[in-house]
Amino acid sequence: MIRVSPSVLAADFAALGNELQDIARAGADFVHLDVMDGVFVPNISFGIPVIRGIRKAVTLPFDVHLMIVEPERYADQFAQAGADYITFHLEATSDPAGLLSHIRALGKYASVSIKPDTPVETLFPLLPLCDMVLIMTVEPGFGGQALIPHTIDKVRIISQEIKRQKCKTLVEVDGGVYAGNAAELISAGADVLVAGSAVFKADDRRAAIEALRSSIQKS
Ligand code: DX5
Ligand code: ZN
Repeated sequence: MIRVSPSVLAADFAALGNELQDIARAGADFVHLDVMDGVFVPNISFGIPVIRGIRKAVTLPFDVHLMIVEPERYADQFAQAGADYITFHLEATSDPAGLLSHIRALGKYASVSIKPDTPVETLFPLLPLCDMVLIMTVEPGFGGQALIPHTIDKVRIISQEIKRQKCKTLVEVDGGVYAGNAAELISAGADVLVAGSAVFKADDRRAAIEALRSSIQKS
């Protein structure tokens, strides 16, 4: 089953609660929440109080993507604020295995992400601790960028390794995902498609989500 996780970064922030309810009605599976600290990435978005505030708006799982340094300092607070999936960056911490275990001990789904230039093999030893891995398909920091083609090879490699290790880890892709490349990502092994612009900027969000979820590779 392919899941679609619309990234709130492309939503109307003046009406965030309504925007979340709208994508819930349109058939979204998760809500993707991009937390940026201006240090790990050259942009600042929103943090714990905003997530706590919008938690009341919908029951959809919150898929929180932490683009912050020292994520281990804040995992508990994001868990308390209502995160269901907590993704941090491999490049941002010295003890990814410890943090994955800690997130699971908090009763949350644990996930780790890599930037486009980080070798995918760095994730292999962590897979048994991961409920999900997030393969960045753009440089993190901004919505609305074009997908970097070589990242699709990493999706293929990690999904083969997940099968080889007999893990249940989901593969999420994030950045520049739209109906025109979803089929290729799905056939490479993506299970969760993050899409900001492709969903929030669409005239018909239900159709946009459905187009992503039901994409089939043309041969
Ligand atoms: C980028 C974020 C993405 C971004 C995706 O750093 O992690 O989640 O919002 O936006 P689109 O789908 O517009 O590329
Ligand atoms: Zn993201």
